[in-house]
Amino acid sequence: MSEPQTSSNNADVATLRPPPRHIAIIMDGNGRWAKARGLPRALGHKEGVEALRRAVEASRELGLTHLSVYAFSTENWNRPQTEIDALFDLLRVFVRRDLARLQKDGVRICIIGSREGLSADILSLIDEAMEKTRDNTRLTLNIAFNYGGRGEIVAAMQEIARAVEAGRLKPDQIDEAMVSRMVWTGESPDPDLVIRTSGELRLSNFLLWSGAYAELMFMDLWWPDFTRESLEKAIDAFRRRDRRFGGLGA
Ligand code: FPP
Repeated sequence: MSEPQTSSNNADVATLRPPPRHIAIIMDGNGRWAKARGLPRALGHKEGVEALRRAVEASRELGLTHLSVYAFSTENWNRPQTEIDALFDLLRVFVRRDLARLQKDGVRICIIGSREGLSADILSLIDEAMEKTRDNTRLTLNIAFNYGGRGEIVAAMQEIARAVEAGRLKPDQIDEAMVSRMVWTGESPDPDLVIRTSGELRLSNFLLWSGAYAELMFMDLWWPDFTRESLEKAIDAFRRRDRRFGGLGA
């Protein structure tokens, strides 16, 4: 991790912040991981699923309540059809193979994003995974699939506009708390920390509303190389950050 990109790193042990409850991850670098090994990009994504399994397990063990991951963005439709198919297949495989274990481990699966353009089998898989795990409380795993942050805000605005049009809501009643409830991440607390792997320094349309106050961390490793130790390092660096939420701090 290149900590110079992670802003202030000045807390001593006595002033460590509480650990994050909700971490969000832009799982970037699958393609480059594969290319460096002379492998097809799809194999990089497959190895990315292994890293995701490790991250879920570590998040549960390290006491996070929420983990959000960016698995397929609305911009990813611009990729070659073979790669899109591979990513959809990985979602199918992940849900089918891991659902029973996630259920046993108390993981609630929420697949967040637009339903537009998704096939009937993917939609029913999403519904099944969400329905079966809805009462689990140990860890919520938000999988952003067919997700875009601007689209998420537009969808919330459309819902609000419809309520105003129907006379159920007055414009003055619209506030930040209401929008926070209406975005796709509405059932989760805001992320405390957004991690992006692969060294790229962008949010790429991820959690634009709920991530407003998140700490950002850019890690110099490709997603398939992400381990429990990577997560521990990120949590440790987060706890040394000085969070002021626009105020002057302690
Ligand atoms: C970015 O790496 C990663 C993605 C676009 C997809 C992330 C998906 C997974 C880790 C696996 C899917 C998991 C599920 C549950 C569906 P990139 O392809 O842009 O890599 P590059 O920037 O090196 O080319």
